[in-house]
Amino acid sequence: MKYFKIEGPVKLKGEVSAQGAKNAVLPIMSAIILYDTPVLLSNVPQVVDVFTMIELLKILGTKVEWKGKNDLLLDPSTINRYTAPYEIVNQMRASIYVLGPLLMKFGKAAVSFPGGCAFGPRPIDYHLHGLTLLGANLEIDRGYINASMKSPTPAEITLNFKSVGTTIHLMTTASLIEGETTLINCAQEPEVVATADFLIKSGVKIEGAGTNVIKVKGVRKLNNLTEYKIIPDRIEAGTYITAGFTTGGEVMVTGCSPIHLEPVIAKLKEAGASVERGNDYVLVKPRENKIKSLQIETQPFPGFPTDMQPQFMSMLSVAEGLSIIKEGIYPNRFAHAFELQRLGAKIKVIEPTAFIEGVEKLTGAEVAGQDLRGSAALILAGLIAEGITTVFGIEHLERGYENFQEKLQSLGAKIQSSS
Ligand code: EPU
Repeated sequence: MKYFKIEGPVKLKGEVSAQGAKNAVLPIMSAIILYDTPVLLSNVPQVVDVFTMIELLKILGTKVEWKGKNDLLLDPSTINRYTAPYEIVNQMRASIYVLGPLLMKFGKAAVSFPGGCAFGPRPIDYHLHGLTLLGANLEIDRGYINASMKSPTPAEITLNFKSVGTTIHLMTTASLIEGETTLINCAQEPEVVATADFLIKSGVKIEGAGTNVIKVKGVRKLNNLTEYKIIPDRIEAGTYITAGFTTGGEVMVTGCSPIHLEPVIAKLKEAGASVERGNDYVLVKPRENKIKSLQIETQPFPGFPTDMQPQFMSMLSVAEGLSIIKEGIYPNRFAHAFELQRLGAKIKVIEPTAFIEGVEKLTGAEVAGQDLRGSAALILAGLIAEGITTVFGIEHLERGYENFQEKLQSLGAKIQSSS
């Protein structure tokens, strides 16, 4: 298991730039299946989930080439297979995004059924139900979804929940279904808007992305799109500003979209942070007082993001008084809470809620991250804990953070890695 050894406490100081958004690039890469000609994506983060999506696209027959550190050329003209195998889907749930595009390209597809993940079962029933309403026939056989689509049909679909993945998947699939598809109760996350923008630039008429109702007027064929820039990663940016505030330092994140960070910035301010923001940067200033306790409920955008919940839990473990975090998305996304206890945090979990009684200080120990954001949260805790904290499970971190160690080191963190 890969690990980081962190010597704390340290006050972070300096400037880092935001990477491209993992959760925007993955659906956009899947949508490439719908194209006939090469597309150059820029601002693509070099993270393991992107590498996994590259592997999947290559298996399907896509030609893939890095043209620069964050410029990725995808040529879908050679795609000739429609099976997404277990080895890949098992590594990354977002692989399900290829199902709809493959159906639109070949009229059939076989995608391994994704399993659970570290924070719960994470089913795909909303995706499958929506695809059925668009005309797909689906059979589950020996761990695979075998799908066919003889007559794609536009539909009016009301989502059971504002699911990010379902909204994006159905919107992308409907892009090649002639006629108007209406999606109701849509997720409003910036990554939905980014995927819509990508499709709109290719000639699809999409109205309402970023609101509750999305209307998609599909086209027979997408226009060529030679280049597209991925939006900044709001969760990565949020992690650095939260780390800056928690350590009592001064951190500026450049190249980000402060508007996407609004729910996070609002809670940081409530906790006592002094935050300055421009069009494309956020600066958190040194803190003079103790962190104030908070009550948070994670919710679909523009609510507080579940993907910042673990990092906030680390922060609140040294706040003044009792904080309460209710998980509105994944009722058992709390593996990090039990690891934080090893560092001296006082946290009680009664799912879907965690009660965090702020302590004076954390003390270094060995801990293990079980998932991407949980690992980031434990590293953040290591920065404020006294002594050495060893965080195992860095494999999870690498799924979504590019150069996390180097970026934190540039802010003054003392971190060594196992490899
Ligand atoms: N859900 C179902 N059935 C479905 C789909 C979702 O029950 O068919 C449930 C989920 O189990 C969950 C809730 O609905 O309880 C919301 O899930 P959603 O579909 O919104 O999540 P997702 O699309 O699978 C994306 C991000 C996650 C992020 C969530 C919520 C990607 C690749 N992943 O997942 O990101 O937590 O939205 O914002 O975009 C991360 O980056 O660390 C991460 C986990």
